[in-house]
Amino acid sequence: MPIETFEIPRPDNMHVHFRGMSGLLRLAAPLTASVFRRAIVMPNVPQIRTADDLVNYRRDIESVTEGADFEPLMTLMLTEETTPEMIREAHAVGCSAVKLYPKGVTTASQHGVADVMKCEPAFGAIADCGMLLLVHPEKPGEFVLYRERMYLDMVRWIMAHVPDLRVVLEHISTFTSSRMVQDGPQNLAATITPMHLHGDLDMVLGDGLRPHNFCYPVLKTPEDRRELIRLALSGHPRVFAGTDSAPHVRGAKESPCGCAGVFCDPVAIPVYAAVFEQHSELANGSSWRDRIRAFLSENGADFYGLPRNEGTMRLGRASWSVPGVYVDDDGKEVVPFLAGETLEWQITERDDHA
Ligand code: NCD
Ligand code: ZN
Repeated sequence: MPIETFEIPRPDNMHVHFRGMSGLLRLAAPLTASVFRRAIVMPNVPQIRTADDLVNYRRDIESVTEGADFEPLMTLMLTEETTPEMIREAHAVGCSAVKLYPKGVTTASQHGVADVMKCEPAFGAIADCGMLLLVHPEKPGEFVLYRERMYLDMVRWIMAHVPDLRVVLEHISTFTSSRMVQDGPQNLAATITPMHLHGDLDMVLGDGLRPHNFCYPVLKTPEDRRELIRLALSGHPRVFAGTDSAPHVRGAKESPCGCAGVFCDPVAIPVYAAVFEQHSELANGSSWRDRIRAFLSENGADFYGLPRNEGTMRLGRASWSVPGVYVDDDGKEVVPFLAGETLEWQITERDDHA
């Protein structure tokens, strides 16, 4: 019996972490490139603070994804030392967006921004160049479950001071952020990860401590999750996929002080598909397949001002088992999201040149 399938344009991943030149990069980048046509590559590891850093990192990524129909879209890390001139130099070499990490809030953010007001000239330059500001919205030093909602006023401050800046709230995890984007202006968007749609905090510590489900922002309550699912399925045009796939070697996760970050790109599309299908009643008169097409393949491109992708990907309902571990060519182990579990959807076909 033929399996149930449907086709979408090649998807974009608007938030991914590769890593510096290493077995991890040679594992993670080709894997993402085999699924997504484009990806917005985060600048925290390695630290991309100048146009030169960006050019070198893009060359490394291109060298390990050669032959794939894949375009890495590069970002610059904002620090309090980033000048408007540095923003313009990055734009001149093809930078797509600038990332604001509040200082110390996540992996490799020690050079992030403590005093956002110091960055006002840089924000102006980002807007003038037509680039986007991507925000990791968490307030350092606050109780972990409140960090996201406590940073939103800072985002409002930035948007009030630089009204023509396009801003993306990355990997939103709370009801509050969801409503801020839903009711927000045309220049505010959000990405949502597969982790935050698939589960809540119980998946991290409700049934033993599960370090491979631990990321920042941490998964929140069932009510927060339900609201994120509702937003994703609502067809809101400024809500799109950013997986936040972030590989760490096994030992760095299974540790007394484990790193935040989930290696989810091996399962991202199947997980998104399962969530959209399970909650199809929230598609509001539309089909969940149309909603997931917009979420994966249209809304991100539209907000970034990029052409929509050519080529197609076919998803099929056919179960498969997620590998328990990936081993990179340095012999380092990386445990993927949902390792060893059985998923109901998979990518059955890809056509780059349709
Ligand atoms: C990311 C990483 O490992 O680089 N970790 C994470 O928990 N999401 C950084 C980030 O996006 O916060
Ligand atoms: Zn991230």
